[in-house]
Amino acid sequence: KTMFTAKRSMQNIRNVAIVGSGLMGSGIAQISASSGFNVTLIDVKKEVLERAMKSINSSLKRVAKKQSGGGAVNSDFASLSMARIKTSENVSSAVADADLIIEAAVENIDLKKGLFAQIEQASKPTAILATNTSSLRLENICKAIDDKTRFAGLHFFNPVPVMKLLEVVRTEETSDETYATLIKFGKAIGKTTVSCKDSPGFIVNRLLIPYCFEAVRMYEREDASMTDIDSAMKLGAGYPMGPFELMDYVGLDTLKFVMDGWVAEYPDNPLFAASPLLDALVSEGKLGRKTGEGFYSYK
Ligand code: CAA
Ligand code: NAD
Repeated sequence: KTMFTAKRSMQNIRNVAIVGSGLMGSGIAQISASSGFNVTLIDVKKEVLERAMKSINSSLKRVAKKQSGGGAVNSDFASLSMARIKTSENVSSAVADADLIIEAAVENIDLKKGLFAQIEQASKPTAILATNTSSLRLENICKAIDDKTRFAGLHFFNPVPVMKLLEVVRTEETSDETYATLIKFGKAIGKTTVSCKDSPGFIVNRLLIPYCFEAVRMYEREDASMTDIDSAMKLGAGYPMGPFELMDYVGLDTLKFVMDGWVAEYPDNPLFAASPLLDALVSEGKLGRKTGEGFYSYK
């Protein structure tokens, strides 16, 4: 164990593998590639990977335009970053040469445990394994991992290229070397890091998600309309998006996974309660912006 951790502390991260290439995985791939890392983006379907590469390309162009400050746009920025990203539909072969593996698949404990068992088997023993979970306890996810010293939470925010925060979360078993390397990686991709105990929702989601569900309850009680609640929080509290806009942006399926998990694990906490309206929208396939409709329509 001492030999592995010592070796890991000296190892620089060069190759990053990202498992799951939806909203978050594609953003994490983008920021890693534009910061100079070699990236392999993994998903179960070819179409999803193609969609991810397209959205990364247009997001990189947006960043290049922003960096130009109205002057000449550096067209190499997007193409050089894109050239650092490979795609794969095979988790085991794609993680084999990675120094850091970030899991950003759907928010489901059994799926994540299964993925990490497979990732640990297929990866180098010195590779760091991180999860982008929004709400699950790391302690539960890492039950499937033998060497827990190399596992931690790396929680990004949507849209990844814009949001400056990265929550770096360690368990009692995460080694100091793993933790320090992840903080260093966060700095290398231009993020400000904060730390938090392995607790439900870490810092941001523990505050933000109960607030969003409370907004749905306010609407369900007919205290105010959705648009008035959104306007109120934007104009009265300075939030860039109102709670309904934000929920549509995050994805209603992701929010449902989060709340269902919390309700099951902490049934007596009044801050955690499912929403019949949100459940109904998810069952109708209205998942927010990503499907063109959620609380609002984007068609
Ligand atoms: N890629 C690259 N750049 C992007 C981008 C993307 N996907 N999205 C936005 N931008 C850039 C734009 O280019 C623009 O740059 P300039 O201002 O320099 O032109 C800037 O971001 C602002 O974008 P827009 O003008 O299009 O729109 P906006 O001013 O409404 O900002 C927003 C968009 C940044 C998303 C803003 O509305 C916002 O901050 N919303 C709140 C997001 C939030 O709270 N995220 C956290 C969600 S919780 C979470 O992620 C955790 C979880 O586990 C669920
Ligand atoms: P998403 O639905 O956009 O993407 C998830 C992707 O995982 C899909 O493309 C799916 O095909 C893929 N996937 C499912 N099973 C897989 C497997 N076995 N192997 C490889 N890929 C697989 O979801 P998202 O919003 O990107 O969320 C991903 C993770 O990030 C979740 O744990 C979520 O809680 C967390 N998160 C989400 C947000 C947000 O704002 N949406 C923010 C921070 C963290």
